[in-house]
Amino acid sequence: MIIVYCSNAGHTERYARYLASALRLPAYRLSELPDSQYGKDAVFLGWINNGTLSGYLSALSKCNILYAVGVGMSPEHPYSATSLFWENDLESETRTFYIRGGFDIHLLSKKEQKIISPQVVELIDELITKFPQTEEDRMMIRNLRDGFDDFSPDKLSLLIDCLRNEDS
Ligand SMILES: Cc1cc2nc3c(=O)[nH]c(=O)nc-3n(C[C@H](O)[C@H](O)[C@H](O)COP(=O)(O)O)c2cc1C
Repeated sequence: MIIVYCSNAGHTERYARYLASALRLPAYRLSELPDSQYGKDAVFLGWINNGTLSGYLSALSKCNILYAVGVGMSPEHPYSATSLFWENDLESETRTFYIRGGFDIHLLSKKEQKIISPQVVELIDELITKFPQTEEDRMMIRNLRDGFDDFSPDKLSLLIDCLRNEDS
C-alpha cells in the first residue's frame, strides 16, 4: 500500500505525511509518483476544489485507489464523505472519507489569490446579507476572512484503524 496525495496549500500534504508516519507507508506527491509505484494499492488524499477531488482521475489512472480522502474547508457532516463519493463518481469499492483541512489565502498562488479574492468577497457579502445567518454561515465567513487550520491527527483515526485491520 502506498499513499498518494494532491495538495495545493499544504493541508492535505500534512495529513498524508502524518498517515505515512503512523502506518510506516511511503507517501508520494501525485506529480512525483515514480513509475515503479504504478499499479499499486493506494490511499489517495486530494484537496477539494469547487467540489472536485483534485488529482483523483490522474491518480486513478496510475494506481489502484482503495481509500480516497477529500480535504476541504466545509465542516464535517455525517453525509460529507457520501457527497464526495457521488459528486466525484468514485469507483464503487473505494472507501471514502472527508476531512476538514484549513484555509489561508496567503498560501495560495498569486493567480489563485486573484481568482478567489472576488469570489471570497462576493461570498462574504452574500452571507452577511442573508438573514438569519446560521452559526455555520458565520463560521465560514470568519474562516475565509481570517484563515484557519483545523489539523488534528484524530481525524485520521478511523482511516488508520481500517488500514491496520486490513493488514492483520
Ligand atoms: C479555489 C478553491 C476552491 C475550493 N473549493 C472548495 C469546495 O468546493 N469545498 C470545500 O469544502 N473546500 C473548498 N476549498 C477549500 C480547500 O479545499 C481547503 O482549503 C483545503 O484544506 C485545501 O487543501 P490544501 O491545503 O492541501 O490545498 C477551496 C479552496 C480553493 C482555493
